[in-house]
Amino acid sequence: MPNFGDFQLEIYLAGLSGIRPSLPMSYSELAARAEAALAPDIYSYVAGGAGNEFTQDENVRAFDRYGLMPRMLAGAAERDLGIDLLGHRLPSPLLLAPVGVIGLCARDGHGDIATAQAAARTGVPMIASTLSADPLEEVAQHLGDTPGFFQLYTPADRELAASFVARAEAAGFSALIVTLDTQILGWRPRDLGLASFPQLQGKCLANYFSDPVFCAKLAAPPEEDPRAAALAWALGFSDPALSWDDLAWLRSLTTLPLLLKGLCHPEDVRRAIDSGVDGIYCSNHGGRQANGGLAAIDLLEPVVEAADGRVPVIFDSGVRGGEHVVKAVALGATAVGVGRPYAWGLALGGVDGIVHVLRSLLAEADLLMAVDGYPTLAHLAAPGSLLRR
Ligand SMILES: Cc1cc2nc3c(=O)[nH]c(=O)nc-3n(C[C@H](O)[C@H](O)[C@H](O)COP(=O)(O)O)c2cc1C
Repeated sequence: MPNFGDFQLEIYLAGLSGIRPSLPMSYSELAARAEAALAPDIYSYVAGGAGNEFTQDENVRAFDRYGLMPRMLAGAAERDLGIDLLGHRLPSPLLLAPVGVIGLCARDGHGDIATAQAAARTGVPMIASTLSADPLEEVAQHLGDTPGFFQLYTPADRELAASFVARAEAAGFSALIVTLDTQILGWRPRDLGLASFPQLQGKCLANYFSDPVFCAKLAAPPEEDPRAAALAWALGFSDPALSWDDLAWLRSLTTLPLLLKGLCHPEDVRRAIDSGVDGIYCSNHGGRQANGGLAAIDLLEPVVEAADGRVPVIFDSGVRGGEHVVKAVALGATAVGVGRPYAWGLALGGVDGIVHVLRSLLAEADLLMAVDGYPTLAHLAAPGSLLRR
């Protein structure tokens, strides 16, 4: 049975014929080359975070405080990274986190479709953002046999929210992930310095501009007056007053599994599960929203304890290598989202670039498990596998 780690053999064997990987093998080179490849405003939007970006950087640094305990002669010749998530059997715990301007990271401007194609090729599910350069129906067509999940930014207009959810369900997305940490935009100095916010320029709003409910409330169609349409989007993007009382309404919109993204407090987790959600997504939005907070990985363990095995826990924020995937699973995550790294892969190599990033993450995770004697994710999640420095 092939292991994800076989990717390294593939690379070394190609090296015997003088072929070196055209795409970076380290995160730092990946990010640096992507910076050179992308327009400055797009790079800034993806790379930047809130405030002085302390939390964003801390998300990555904090992983260093955890270390896997090596076990020998543990029978890890073959590894199984498979998981069960929301009714799907998946080859690995990796997910493509929703990235709202992923469309613009592709040279042709169709990065959402490229991401769906990478999901189809790798079996890594895509969480498609509400903020998409192509309508969700078109994105869904490229997912192949890989499940796709739809991420909802809940608009102030409930009829529009219901329309998005109905469309996502009809298009074949198999779970609804509602993001809660972006009811209002965080303070982002990099983007402020460039006075640039892509969506206000009418970009990545295809789901809105293709929506009958959204368009019916405009004085003119988006193609005739894109500025007014973008303004209407900005004014109705969210309802900052959304509260726990609205969860029943969100739940009523669909029979699909419902997950909440951005939950970090154990009490919020318990309340969400008691209210009937089907999964928890622990994330601090990669440090893009609130600065000065704790690293997301340091918040994961209490979230997992609060979930108490009742529903799956997805984690993201700060995942840069396979080592981080392994540590998040060892801390109890069911699945792990990758964000910025795949945006850089897309910028450098299109669909192949995303596939390269995902294969690298999985190979590193797999080989770490092999070296340290953890044949399955259950072994990783067992007590004593991970120590805190
Ligand atoms: C450029 C960019 C756009 C994002 N857009 C969305 C989005 O539309 N919806 C959402 O829920 N999260 C969004 N996120 C957050 C990601 O889903 C994820 O939480 C974050 O990227 C994790 O941090 P990391 O990339 O530093 O690992 C975005 C992140 C980035 C970098």
